[in-house]
Amino acid sequence: MLDVLTQKIHDEARQGEAYAPFINDPTQYKKRFYIESYGCQMNFSDSEIVASILNGTGYGATRNYEEADLVFLNTCSIREKAEQTVRKRLTEFRKIKQARPGLLVGVLGCMAERLKSKFLEEEQLVDIVVGPDAYRSLPALIEEAEGGQKAVNVLLSREETYADISPVRLNSNGVSAFVSIMRGCNNMCTFCVVPFTRGRERSRDAASIIKECKDLFDRGYREVTLLGQNVDSYYFTPETGNGEPGNLSEAVTFARLLEEVAKISPLLRVRFSTSHPKDITDDVLHVMARHNNICKYIHLPVQSGSSRILQMMNRTYTREWYMAKIDRIREIIPGCGISSDIISGFCTETEEDHQDTLSLMEYSRYDLSYMFFYSERPGTLAQRRYKDDVPESVKKRRLQEVVDLQNRLSRESNERDLGKTFEVLIEGDSKKSGEDWMGRTSQNKVIVFSKQGNTCQKGNYVHVQVTDCTKATLLGEVV
Ligand code: SAH
Ligand code: SF4
Ligand code: F3S
Repeated sequence: MLDVLTQKIHDEARQGEAYAPFINDPTQYKKRFYIESYGCQMNFSDSEIVASILNGTGYGATRNYEEADLVFLNTCSIREKAEQTVRKRLTEFRKIKQARPGLLVGVLGCMAERLKSKFLEEEQLVDIVVGPDAYRSLPALIEEAEGGQKAVNVLLSREETYADISPVRLNSNGVSAFVSIMRGCNNMCTFCVVPFTRGRERSRDAASIIKECKDLFDRGYREVTLLGQNVDSYYFTPETGNGEPGNLSEAVTFARLLEEVAKISPLLRVRFSTSHPKDITDDVLHVMARHNNICKYIHLPVQSGSSRILQMMNRTYTREWYMAKIDRIREIIPGCGISSDIISGFCTETEEDHQDTLSLMEYSRYDLSYMFFYSERPGTLAQRRYKDDVPESVKKRRLQEVVDLQNRLSRESNERDLGKTFEVLIEGDSKKSGEDWMGRTSQNKVIVFSKQGNTCQKGNYVHVQVTDCTKATLLGEVV
């Protein structure tokens, strides 16, 4: 029984968003934890902080939950489906726990924050509930839980950035790493649960970010992605932050931070995510244009192409304003890759609004989009103010039209690259074959090319000419 379940969980972990970390040296730790992450890169990055805290308290990471004393799910609340996935997973762990009563199960992240102690009433076999700003209290909470108590800490903080904690890289390819530069979000997009689950925006000490990036580079990493819900509003001063400013004594804006990280080495690629269209400045665009190692790729979620819907979403820009931003990016950074997030079927969305989204996608010529239908979230402004009145069938049909258009745009974008040569950072073997390398262009496109006839290694930069493409991947050869 357990074996079938085990297999099922492993299979799903492989297919789905979930992943299991590498194993810490088993001789070094008496106890083991297993962690699975859901949701955005921030959550995956937080799991690496959690791993570091747990290592400090005598728990080593394992990839196999069967040998774990402690199982954590780092959860996401962004859409109802994300929460359903976690609930389903918890049911599976409940069965395992029944067979192994000593096993502790903890829920971390946004769903823990949203549901707080209600979680313990709803999911009786959960022992520990910890919100995103309370991971430092994990050792104490685990101790409580080991003593048979239910342990909860969902306090949000105005200061916590975990700046001094050196993340344990889980599931890393050894080439690229995520570096968290800020936490929380002060934007109040009406559809979004993040301001409630992650709290107020705060920026991490600039010197600690640069140090982390330098350390990564020294350990052989060749790419860092600076992470935040809204990286363009990064702002650190010794007064607004709470750490030592190091040698950066003046205020540090995102443009400045980006430049400082880029200066670590021309061999270190720098990416960032996510940009809010209202906050990305010309300064940032000029810094990007100036440094070859800052990747020419911007994720600039539009959400909708209708100014009326954008206003109801409280995105604070109009369709025309967004288009001007796209023009500006293309002017300052020719050849820049641009991607987006789109929500179909937000409250009151008409067919005309939907057409506006399609035409704006066409105008922006996105290389890639993440597309969703609107999912009402309890407690958000939209849930309190508006009726979720677009029928599900209409939401889904519109979403399909958005997906179909994006598929065409992605294909066209790839076709425009045929014959061109790109500098590629090799990340490892291609998924399909050990005979091929997989890497990324500066524009963030995946490119696959043969290992034959070259002596490339993982972490090397090579020039690759695009010879063919599929909808999602470029194919090429080393030149
Ligand atoms: N901070 C980022 C996005 C964070 S959430 C930003 O501002 O762009 C990632 C994406 O999930 C959002 O861009 C949005 O497209 C989508 N999303 C958020 N809330 C949603 C909801 N209630 N229903 C459907 N999609 C949602
Ligand atoms: Fe949510 Fe808007 Fe903040 Fe992004 S910017 S996390 S969509 S509130
Ligand atoms: Fe999900 Fe929380 Fe990220 S709600 S998208 S895990 S910030």
